[in-house]
Amino acid sequence: MRMRRKKHLEERLAECGDMIIYMDREDRNYQVKDTENILDLTSLFGNDAPVELEIGCGKGQFICELAQRCPEVNFLAVEKASNVIVDAAKKAISLGLKNVRFLRGGAEYLESYIPAESIGRIYLNFSCPFPKKSYASHRLTHRRFLEIYDVLLKPHAEIHQKTDNRNFFEFSLEEFSDCGWTLKNISLDLHASDFEGNIVTEYEQRFSEQGFPIYRLEAYRK
Ligand SMILES: C[S@@+](CC[C@H](N)C(=O)[O-])C[C@H]1O[C@@H](n2cnc3c(N)ncnc32)[C@H](O)[C@@H]1O
Repeated sequence: MRMRRKKHLEERLAECGDMIIYMDREDRNYQVKDTENILDLTSLFGNDAPVELEIGCGKGQFICELAQRCPEVNFLAVEKASNVIVDAAKKAISLGLKNVRFLRGGAEYLESYIPAESIGRIYLNFSCPFPKKSYASHRLTHRRFLEIYDVLLKPHAEIHQKTDNRNFFEFSLEEFSDCGWTLKNISLDLHASDFEGNIVTEYEQRFSEQGFPIYRLEAYRK
């Protein structure tokens, strides 16, 4: 049964063709960086438009909606789970989106794939909160990830984060502050705020329907 499911997943991934780029480096120490796989973003998208990045894109609701709203921007969406990214890529294909590509793999490896100072914005939507203290370094706003984002982002470019998890949000505020990032537009209840143009993600929909407030922040380097 498991073999059949795996074969089915592999077939579905293959149907996505060039839409998914594979960062198959899970066996490597993330601190070992090499440059041989750095993407040429201009040839990847066929143009010189600015590039933005979502990390942990899930089934792609956010990135596909954003790509439709902003055809003048290119988007990379990272997701480590194959069974999820395949749905996201299929969604982008069915919508005929030319300005989105997906990277399968952990955010730990992004420096080996994305050129330094090439990204205009990073979106972190409802990243796994990893509540156990011993897993804190897996949180996508842990300082080890902030260091990676610092390399990828253009000077003064922003990170936009949303979460339903108050403890994770407080952790993120502390990590950004401790690491010298400037915070702005902090919201403790996004849906009750006057923020315009919000794109609701799959998890956001689920949590807000359950009555949880949504926390949001923007962080940048001065
Ligand atoms: C809770 S889901 C949120 C999905 C989507 N962003 C949303 O808001 O509906 C978090 C996603 O992040 C992915 N993820 C967690 N850690 C990751 C990492 N280090 N690199 C890439 N993806 C990661 C998980 O596989 C999962 O699909």
